[in-house]
Amino acid sequence: MESPMTHTTTRIIREEHGALSAMLRSIVLLLAQHRRQETLPDFGVLRAMLFYVDEFPEKRHHRKESELLFPKLRARTPLSRELLDRLDEDHALGERRIRNVEHALLGFEMMGEARREAFEKALGQYVDFYLSHMAMEEREILPLAERVLTQEDWADLDEAFGANRDPLTGFEPDEEYRQLFTRIVNVVPAPLGLGAAS
Ligand SMILES: [Fe+2]
Ligand SMILES: [Fe+2]
Repeated sequence: MESPMTHTTTRIIREEHGALSAMLRSIVLLLAQHRRQETLPDFGVLRAMLFYVDEFPEKRHHRKESELLFPKLRARTPLSRELLDRLDEDHALGERRIRNVEHALLGFEMMGEARREAFEKALGQYVDFYLSHMAMEEREILPLAERVLTQEDWADLDEAFGANRDPLTGFEPDEEYRQLFTRIVNVVPAPLGLGAAS
């Protein structure tokens, strides 16, 4: 029988991973479509999508993993230390990586066709990097957390992760984010979006 994964934090982390991967994949599809049609994408929408990655996954999700979840794991078990270090490194580099992608997008927007391939490449590398990062967390880290963390650990984590309220996982966006998410959900296919169940 599979072990129950019932804690709020592990559910939220999986949902946020799901939202981020769906969005990253939809950017890749969008770019492939424009390449086939020999058209330019809506740069405003792409900027909105990359800005979201910076505001939610980077500033909330990854930061809380490194600042709260991983230290609690290190305190409870000697297992997976090397992997935790590697994932921490990924988190630390994440902000620079997304900045590189944003810069490549700016290049594409300013210079046109000549920079299409460079942007596709930068984005593709970023997507591969994060998909494997998240897969690693889901395969190794979340099951380990379910085994070793205590009730008090979970209470702290559930409160912190519960505050993320990522609109791409079905929460109503705060007023200040409303416009941003409207732009995004208009182009991202179902089931992502404001209408998704929380
Ligand atoms: Fe992470
Ligand atoms: Fe994560």
